[in-house]
Amino acid sequence: MFEQDETLNALREALELTPENSVLRSQLAKLLMSRGQLEEAEKLLRQGLERQSTSEVLQATLAECYRKLGNVSAALVIVEELVKRPNCKPQYFIQHARLLLLKGQLAQAVQAYRRAIADNPELADPDLAAALDIQPSGDAEPWREDPDVDEEGRIRMPAGEIPQESPSFEMEKPDMGFDDVGGMDDLKKQIRLKIIEPMKHPELYRAYGKKVGGSLLMYGPPGCGKTYLARATAGEIDAAFYSVGLHDVLDMYIGNSEQHLHALFENAREHAPCVLFFDEVDALGASRADMRASSGRHLINQFLSELDGVDSVNDGVLILAATNAPWHLDPAFRRPGRFDRLLFVPPPDRQARAAILRILLRGKPQTEIDYDAIAKKTEKFSGADLKAVVDQAVEGKLEEALTRGTPQPLETRDLLGTLKQVKPSTAPWFASARNYAMYANEGGIYDDILDYLKMR
Ligand SMILES: Nc1ncnc2c1ncn2[C@@H]1O[C@H](COP(=O)(O)OP(=O)(O)OP(=O)(O)O)[C@@H](O)[C@H]1O
Ligand SMILES: [Mg+2]
Repeated sequence: MFEQDETLNALREALELTPENSVLRSQLAKLLMSRGQLEEAEKLLRQGLERQSTSEVLQATLAECYRKLGNVSAALVIVEELVKRPNCKPQYFIQHARLLLLKGQLAQAVQAYRRAIADNPELADPDLAAALDIQPSGDAEPWREDPDVDEEGRIRMPAGEIPQESPSFEMEKPDMGFDDVGGMDDLKKQIRLKIIEPMKHPELYRAYGKKVGGSLLMYGPPGCGKTYLARATAGEIDAAFYSVGLHDVLDMYIGNSEQHLHALFENAREHAPCVLFFDEVDALGASRADMRASSGRHLINQFLSELDGVDSVNDGVLILAATNAPWHLDPAFRRPGRFDRLLFVPPPDRQARAAILRILLRGKPQTEIDYDAIAKKTEKFSGADLKAVVDQAVEGKLEEALTRGTPQPLETRDLLGTLKQVKPSTAPWFASARNYAMYANEGGIYDDILDYLKMR
């Protein structure tokens, strides 16, 4: 350990003299990582990237550091950029393979691994190969050839297997509107302008050559009202609401998911006006373990052409989508005319929290409640967290009523009393969002996150 300390100090001193030396910085970070000082390594690498944002060696080491920290998504974002570069070093494909494996994307991981070995056979890693279930003799095979997997890693349907039927999609008529949504004034305005007004005045919009219908993509931390707002939008215009978890659509075999998706859009078109809401829309871009690499370009293309309404008209079909991980979305989604606007749905601010609490407490027995006092004490709480506060307070009151035999109205202190147990849940999301906003903020798409975190 003593020797290591000396090396560490020597590297630190050297780096102070030549802070631009990214190889040195990366070595120092690796040494720190090997000693388990991951946070310090991360900090050092990020400082380096602030100076030299395109340094490959720093990026690759930071990705490794994120992997060790357990933040596989952040590591993947960095490595995906690295492997896109021309003349990408084969070892980055190995790194990519490891991360894909951790994400459960086995077919792609195998491809990445084979690609690396094809470029440099010395990179062969028996442990990784075993984890990927690659036979040593298979390594010499060209990396794309696998008869059961197409060029995007999707599985061909075995002969004789019957395709799954398209899932049926349940329609709902929400009996709520924007009045039931606390805060979110800007979002409501955007939805009104872009989606609701065109629907109410179709002639006007058509006269200007505008399509009636539209699409918006919301992103943000969990529990902050994305799904709730989508449902309220349907209620607001008295339209049908179809909520689709993309995992319902995705099928592991080539072609089936596309059919499901088409059936879904057709169904929505028949039932216009309606709101078609795609939850977890990022699942489209990134294949996951549970659907065995079924997505990919075809499905994305199918989704985009349905969105564009190439083959049919989407008049009266409002398309809303939500995700917690916009960074996993294929950039093609953001081309003009599609989800060109990413709407950030932040945790509610103080005023919005008071408004949400009012809504959540509507109709419940209560004395004069000091909403602002509770709002003040619930910074960083999501709408869902506030709901937990109210639910807990109500439970407490019920218990009291049962023992006393008489129901008591809710008071401010009942709600404040729950704050010992209910804690805000949005912090972990921001911890990773912050990294994307700092290192993958092309075209400023995540400026809203930086603004929220007061980092700009
Ligand atoms: N603005 C709001 N007004 C009233 N209630 C809200 C609001 N935001 C959230 N809530 C409450 O919090 C619950 C959770 O919100 P919702 O499910 O819409 O979050 P989400 O952003 O879709 O989360 P996830 O990313 O986990 O899907 C809602 O069912 C609702 O009760
Ligand atoms: Mg949701």
